[in-house]
This record gives sequence, structure tokens and C-alpha cells, in this order.
Amino acid sequence: MIDTIIAQLADKGWCVAPGFLPDDLVHSLAQEAEHLGQSGRLHPAATGQGGQRQIRANLRGDSIHWLEEPPATPAQAEFLSRMEALRLAANRDLQLGLFELEVHFARYPAGAGYGKHLDVFQQDSRRTLSVICYLNEDWQAENGGQLRIDLEHGDSVEVLPQGGTLVCFLSSRFPHEVLPATRPRLSITGWFKHR
Ligand code: OGA
Ligand code: MN
Repeated sequence: MIDTIIAQLADKGWCVAPGFLPDDLVHSLAQEAEHLGQSGRLHPAATGQGGQRQIRANLRGDSIHWLEEPPATPAQAEFLSRMEALRLAANRDLQLGLFELEVHFARYPAGAGYGKHLDVFQQDSRRTLSVICYLNEDWQAENGGQLRIDLEHGDSVEVLPQGGTLVCFLSSRFPHEVLPATRPRLSITGWFKHR
């Protein structure tokens, strides 16, 4: 699976990998995200960085919780070890020089989205590879919530946030947006940074 992901990143700069996370891990992580929300530990996400940091719920409607080191639970440790395998493969085969991972749970309530944006900040271009793993069991097309990625030549691709699917792309190259969904939408989203 990781070899296929790396080959697609090399070829086109983005990749969608259904079934990247096994169902039991998706289930554990989804429960942890919901428990964080119920115990008041998901906080409205900001946009921008430093002096540009702002909460703009009409642009970005999710609430987040940053994962920590050492990992808070066995499921989070398992997730991070899979991310580490991806990091090592990307560095070996693509020479991306990925150094650290910043990663958070995200929960979008029904109706919330995230307007079109790039994942690199204006004054800080260290974010190199964006990774998103969805934690939504039994997601249906009519639930919406697609990630829409703008490609070259005006093309775009839409990805349903089905549990276990991994999306990754080069952070500086692809504007993208999250369309509103009819039910809460869970993910773990992160960025590998170079030094
Ligand atoms: C982000 C983002 C996409 C998604 O958090 O920056 O673009 O599908 N998320 O959740
Ligand atoms: Mn983004």
C-alpha cells in the first residue's frame, strides 16, 4: 500500500488510498474523537498563523484536538507509527526531507465546511505533505462532505470522507475545500514539515 501511495505522489503529487487504516483502528480513533468532543477538548479551529491567526467559522467550521507525543492512547500510537512508515518511505523515495508531523483530530458538525485554501502559511512554508485520514463509518454519497481538490488545467477531484481512506498531497500545490455534510464528519489531518 505505501509503495503505491509513494508512486502516485511521485507521478502526480497527490494520492487517494481507500482502506489505508483498518476498520478496528478507524473505529477506535472515531470513538476517541467523539469522547474528546464530549469532554470539551475539541476547540474551534483557527486559520492563519502568528498575527494572522483568526477564528472564522464561516470559512472553517471544524473543531480540533492536536495529537501529542507520547501518544495518549494505543490507537493514536498505532496511527502515528503508520504515519512514520509513510514519512520514511517518502524521504527515501521522493527526497522530501520530511522531518516532523503536526496532526490533529477534526470534527465538522453537520452543515460545516472549509472554504478553498492552501495548507501553507504565508510566512512559513515548512508544511510539505498534507495527510488526511477519514474516520467516518458507513459514509454514503448523499451525506456529502467531499474533499474537493483543484488539479492542474481546471480539473478537480472529489473524495468522500469514508472511514479508512487516506488522502495525501503536496501542501503547496493543491488548493482544496471541504463541502458541507449532512452528518458530523471526523478525520485526523496533519502536515509533514521539512526543517
Ligand atoms: C484541512 C483540510 C480536508 C478534509 O484541515 O486543512 O483541508 O477533508 N481538511 O478534512
Ligand atoms: Mn487543508
